[in-house]
Amino acid sequence: MADLAIRIEQKDQFYILTINRPQALNALNKAVFDELETFFNHYKNDFSVKGVVITGEGQKSFVAGADIKEFASLDAKGGSLLSKRGQEVFFMIERFHAPVIAAVNGFALGGGCELAMSCHIRVAGSHAKFGQPEVNLGLVPGYGGSQRLIQLVGKSKATEMLLTADMISADEALRYGLVTHVVESGMEVDKSLEILTKIATKGPLAINQCIQLINAYYDKETDGFVKEYTDFGLTIGSEDSTEGAAAFVEKRKPSFNAK
Ligand code: CAA
Repeated sequence: MADLAIRIEQKDQFYILTINRPQALNALNKAVFDELETFFNHYKNDFSVKGVVITGEGQKSFVAGADIKEFASLDAKGGSLLSKRGQEVFFMIERFHAPVIAAVNGFALGGGCELAMSCHIRVAGSHAKFGQPEVNLGLVPGYGGSQRLIQLVGKSKATEMLLTADMISADEALRYGLVTHVVESGMEVDKSLEILTKIATKGPLAINQCIQLINAYYDKETDGFVKEYTDFGLTIGSEDSTEGAAAFVEKRKPSFNAK
């Protein structure tokens, strides 16, 4: 696979994606989106992949937003298309079958905060800063931030963050519920891999169904309760569920095959 704007590294059953544009504080340009899309398309429903970590090159910035230098030539139609395309790629992350963790190692601003929010779990370094500063540029968020920020921190805090463009610290992000862990600077990827390692011992089909059930809560077209009893039936009819129950009775660790 191409390895240009994103460095891709395999570690056991996991992949670490490092956005690699430090000269632009890892801002999201077209190349980054193309490579994210290629990766998540390629590994979609490949249950040998048990998790992905997304981080930024260096220790200053996770991602400082969409690449503002690509905005110059955009008219209304071009802007909408850029935004829609970004949203679609971030939906691929949100709907991925295995957990994707944002290891936020610095600025997560605008599209960077939106990328982190499309991941299933967020781990922040103690120096990380989060914000949606689009109004400073006379813009609204374009990659799902106006919606996911409300989902994650609630309407009051989201409104203040979106309207003031203020950055919040890692500790504030923890209090807001935007991240679930704050770790020593430099330990973001290690902590993310630790979480993925624990999740990788669980039934992979059930992990996928849990992710899709959580997404269903926010999908206005889907009744999450109906999806839950349907998915419960699907998982209980799986070989993995038979194995999980047998392992419990036999007092041993289960060996799941994603079947
Ligand atoms: N796009 C393109 N280049 C960026 C960038 C971005 N989002 N953020 C930083 N850079 C570039 C700077 O232009 C600079 O490049 P040069 O050396 O060539 O001038 C380099 O990265 C280093 O940045 P700074 O010199 O500004 O570093 P700093 O430490 O003084 O400030 C910062 C850091 C506060 C993060 C500041 O860079 C900043 O405010 N960046 C922009 C943040 C932002 O507004 N993000 C939202 C973008 S819009 C968006 O994301 C819309 C959407 O939802 C789709």
